[in-house]
Amino acid sequence: MTQMLSLNDGRQIPQLGFGLWQVPSATTAETTAAALEMGYRLVDGAAIYGNEEGQGDGIRASGLPRDQVFVTTKVWNSEQGFDKTLRAAEASLKRLGLGHVDLLLIHWPCPAKDLYLDTWRALIRLREEGKALSIGVSNFKEPHLERIIGETGVTPVLNQVEINPRLQQRALRAFHDKHGIVTQSWTPLGQGRSFDAAPVQAAARRTGKSPVQVILRWHVQIGASVIPRSTRTEGLAENLALFDFSLTEAEMSAIATLDEGKRCGPDPSDFNMG
Ligand SMILES: NC(=O)c1ccc[n+]([C@@H]2O[C@H](COP(=O)([O-])OP(=O)(O)OC[C@H]3O[C@@H](n4cnc5c(N)ncnc54)[C@H](OP(=O)(O)O)[C@@H]3O)[C@@H](O)[C@H]2O)c1
Repeated sequence: MTQMLSLNDGRQIPQLGFGLWQVPSATTAETTAAALEMGYRLVDGAAIYGNEEGQGDGIRASGLPRDQVFVTTKVWNSEQGFDKTLRAAEASLKRLGLGHVDLLLIHWPCPAKDLYLDTWRALIRLREEGKALSIGVSNFKEPHLERIIGETGVTPVLNQVEINPRLQQRALRAFHDKHGIVTQSWTPLGQGRSFDAAPVQAAARRTGKSPVQVILRWHVQIGASVIPRSTRTEGLAENLALFDFSLTEAEMSAIATLDEGKRCGPDPSDFNMG
């Protein structure tokens, strides 16, 4: 139902997943199980979302074999540093009720803390110990990536960053391609900022798909992994139906013109919260 992308460590990740930010902890297990039963195979969580218990419970409730579900979590900013990160990862695994995650990410670089290199070294250790099968980062810009790669020789498998038609991050994506890093798009719907845009509407009319599906398909066709969130069954189903149609080159070019370089979220250069 979903395509797979190759990671630079020889493993694979489903191109489409679902995100758990702002999914209430009380309903996370139910939402996770419903999404997995529907066909999703990638669950994007984070310690700071406060719902890792539900994430783990939902995976178990789905009845799927563990190796059929790709589980991501992230180390929060307050836990950066070598020893703290090792402890934070253990705490995440305990909350998830799992022996390992498929992907562990550094949530934000937090340049003012200047701890992301030590944090990256901890992720390398956690991978060696089998607690994270793959390791990557989130919200890293080119200088942050260059530094951790240069200092450790280990390239993250993936960088999860804000991308939507109004913030296309072309230079960063080119850097990722050059280094074999998968781009993963967060807030892929961009808070609805391009639902009404003419190129999106035109592609929706031609394909008979919704503007949301056109935008998610655009992410797929730029080669990104994409992790939309919906707490509604219909929303989850709609966001999963991306692999039975495609956008033409002309439609992709028209959507490319929507880029304004404007973020919905914070600029990682100045975000050091936590
Ligand atoms: N690494 C990071 O720093 C970072 C930051 C932000 C997000 N993320 C990850 O990225 C995931 C996705 O980002 P996001 O949750 O911010 O935003 P999103 O997936 O772009 O959008 C979610 C919003 O769109 C609505 N929606 C979803 N599908 C829809 C559909 N088919 N039709 C109409 N509305 C729809 C949802 O409402 P309903 O629930 O009502 O459908 C919700 O309000 C997060 O859950 C998280 O896992 C990571």
